[in-house]
Amino acid sequence: MTDRRILVTAALPYANGQIHIGHMVEYIQTDIWVRFQKLRGNRTVFVCADDTHGTAIMIRARDEGRTEEEVIAEMAQAHVRDFEAFDIEFDNYGSTNSPENRELCGAIWKSIREASLVIEKDIEQLFDPEAGLFLADRFVRGTCPNPECNAPNQPGDNCSRCGKTYSPAELIDPKSTLSGATPEVRTARHLFIELKQLHSFLDEWSQSGMHLQSEVANNLRGQFLGDPNSAEGAKELRDWDISRPAPYFGFEIPDSPGNYWYVWFDAPIGYMASTKQWCDRTGEKFDDWWKSDNTEIHHFIGKDITYFHTLFWPGMLKTAGFSLPEKVHIHGFLKVDGEKMSKSQGTFVMASTYLKHLEPDCLRYFYASKLGPGLGDIDLNLEEFVNRVNSHLVGNIVNLASRSAKFVSGGTLCEKYPDDGGLFAAAAAKADQIAELYEQCDFSAAMLEVLQLADEANRFINDRAPWTLRKDPEKAEEVRQICSIVLNLFRQLTVFLKPVLPTLAEQSSALLNSPITNWNDVKTPLVGTPVSDFKHMMQRITNEQVEAMIDDSRVDDAAEDDSDDSDSPWKDGPEALAAEPLSEECTIDDFVKVDLRVARVIAAKDVPEANKLLNLTLSLGGGETRNVFAGIKAAYKPEDLLGRLVICVANLKPRQMKFGLSEGMICAAGPGKADVFLLGVDDGAVPGQRIH
Ligand code: 2FM
Ligand code: ZN
Repeated sequence: MTDRRILVTAALPYANGQIHIGHMVEYIQTDIWVRFQKLRGNRTVFVCADDTHGTAIMIRARDEGRTEEEVIAEMAQAHVRDFEAFDIEFDNYGSTNSPENRELCGAIWKSIREASLVIEKDIEQLFDPEAGLFLADRFVRGTCPNPECNAPNQPGDNCSRCGKTYSPAELIDPKSTLSGATPEVRTARHLFIELKQLHSFLDEWSQSGMHLQSEVANNLRGQFLGDPNSAEGAKELRDWDISRPAPYFGFEIPDSPGNYWYVWFDAPIGYMASTKQWCDRTGEKFDDWWKSDNTEIHHFIGKDITYFHTLFWPGMLKTAGFSLPEKVHIHGFLKVDGEKMSKSQGTFVMASTYLKHLEPDCLRYFYASKLGPGLGDIDLNLEEFVNRVNSHLVGNIVNLASRSAKFVSGGTLCEKYPDDGGLFAAAAAKADQIAELYEQCDFSAAMLEVLQLADEANRFINDRAPWTLRKDPEKAEEVRQICSIVLNLFRQLTVFLKPVLPTLAEQSSALLNSPITNWNDVKTPLVGTPVSDFKHMMQRITNEQVEAMIDDSRVDDAAEDDSDDSDSPWKDGPEALAAEPLSEECTIDDFVKVDLRVARVIAAKDVPEANKLLNLTLSLGGGETRNVFAGIKAAYKPEDLLGRLVICVANLKPRQMKFGLSEGMICAAGPGKADVFLLGVDDGAVPGQRIH
C-alpha cells in the first residue's frame, strides 16, 4: 500500500431509466481508473448510488400504480445487475433515498443556512390542475410566443424552430404533456442559494489549474465567473433555486414545510451518503474520507452536468466544511457511427441488450482505446469496433497465449528466464510511462503503448516459430524457452491491461498459476511456475453479432428523448446553460498562433487514388508556395479552383500523406460532401496578406 487515499465517484444514474451504452462510457472509464489505482497499491474506494428523487419518478410511479419506493427498488436491481455484468466494481452502491442521505442533506443545509446563503423568492410556475403538479419546463408544450415564428408544439423553455428562449408561462396555448390540461400560472415560494457570495472562492478553486481540465475552467470563467482583471470584470452569479413545492418526491426541507430539496441538491450529497454506508459496513471513519487533507476526492462526470459539479457542489462542500474535489474528470458524449444515439436507428443500445450479443470486455477495451483526457465526444464506429476487438485483442494479444501455451501446458516455465533480446526488460521499463497515462485518463495513449509492446512480442514468436521447431524432438528445450518468453510477455501485457480487461487478467493468472496483484508484476518474469491447459479467452466477434444487437435495439416511432429529471441549473436562467455541450476550447493564445493567409490556387489536380482529395498548389506571394491536399473533391472540380483566392493555414506542420507531403490547409465550411464552401476573400486581397 502507498500513502495515497483516493475516493472516487461516478455520476449517479437516474432511477427512472435503464443503463445504456452511453452511460457505460463513464462507468467503464471510472472503473478503469479505479482498478488502475488499486493495482498501484493506492487505497481507493469507489462509490455510487441511484439518483432517485424528482418529478420523473413520481410521475412514473403514478402511471404504473406503484409507490416510488417500489419503482426505485426495481430499478436499483436492474442497474446493479448491469454494472456487475460489465465488471464495474463499486465498493458501495447506495441510493439517494436513504436515511444517510437525508441526514447529510440536513447537516449541509444547516451550514448553508448558518452562512446566510439562503434567500426566498416567489416564483411563477405552471401548474397542472388535473395532475396536481407544478410542471418542469419539459412537461409543457405550446406555441412559440415569438410573433415572427409561432411554431406549434414547442417545449416550455426554448423554441426548436427560432431558438428563442422564454419562460413556460409565455407560451401561447400551453398544454401539460402529463394530462393534456391547460396549466395555470401559480405562484410559489422557492428557496435559493445566493451563489454570488461564493464568487471569490469559486474563482480561486476553479481557476487554480489543479482541479479542472483547462477547457472547463475557461468555460466557467467565460460563461459565469468573468474575470475581475479584464475590462469586462467579474460576472454576477445568479441565485440557484434549490427547492420545489409539494408534491415532489424527495426530502422535505426540515425548516420549510411543504418544500422539498430539488433533486440536484440531494444527488451529489448521495456520494457522501454512499461513502457513509461503506464506512459503517467496514468500520472506517467518515471524516477520514470527506474531511481529511490526506484523501483525494475524484468525481467522474459527463460534460452535460459540469456546472452542478464545478460551481454548486464545491460551493456546498466549502460552506459545510467538507473536503473539496481534488479533480472533476469530465468526459464527452458517446456517438454511434458518428451520430447521436438513436432509438429508431437501433443505436440507443441498452447495456442489457449489448450483453445478449457481445462480451463486456469488448466494449471496455474499445472505450479505453478511444478515451483521452479531454472532453471530446467518443465515436463507437461499429466497423472499427469489430476490427479493433479482433485485431488488437484477439489477433495481437490473446493469440500470443494461444500460440505458445499449448506447447508447454502441463509443464513449467523455464527455471531461469531465457535471453529474449531485451524484450521483457524494455516493456518493464515502460511501466512508469504507461502508469502516468492511466493516471491522466489518457487511456487511448496507454492502449497504443501496450499494442506496440504486443507487436514486438508477435514479431518474436513469428520469427522463432515454435510450431515448426517442435517437430524436431531435439529442439524441445528451445521450444520451451521460446514459450516461456512469449507467455511472460503475454502476462506482462495482461498486467498493463488489467484495469481495462480484468477477466483477461484472471485468465492469464489461471493459465500461469500466478495471480496478478500489483502493477509491479510487470517487472519480474515468472520462472519455474506451472502452465495450465490453455482455455478459451476471447473470441473474435462478427459484424452479424453487432447487427443483431442493433436490430434488437431498434424501436419504431421512438421519441428520441433520453429523459431525465434536470431543469436548467438556474431555474430562471436560459436552458442553454445545461444543454450547451462544452467543446474543447482554444485560447486566444492558441488561436493567434494560427497563421491565416490569403493564397491563390495556381495548380489543382485530382488525386485519383483518393476518394476525397484534390492536390492544390497555393501561391502565398513573394514566390512562396505550398503543396496542399484538400478533402473537397465532392464539392469542387480542379479546374473551378484555378486562380481562386482562398484562405490557408500557412504554418500548419507539414504532414506526410500517402500521396505526398501536405504543407498546409485551406479553410472551408459546410455540412460536408458537396456542401463545402471555401472561405474566399474580396477581390482586393493579395496572396500573402495576413488575415488577422
Ligand atoms: O445526470 C444524471 O444522470 C444525474 N442523475 C447525475 C447525478 S450525479 C450526482 F450529482 F449525483
Ligand atoms: Zn419560435
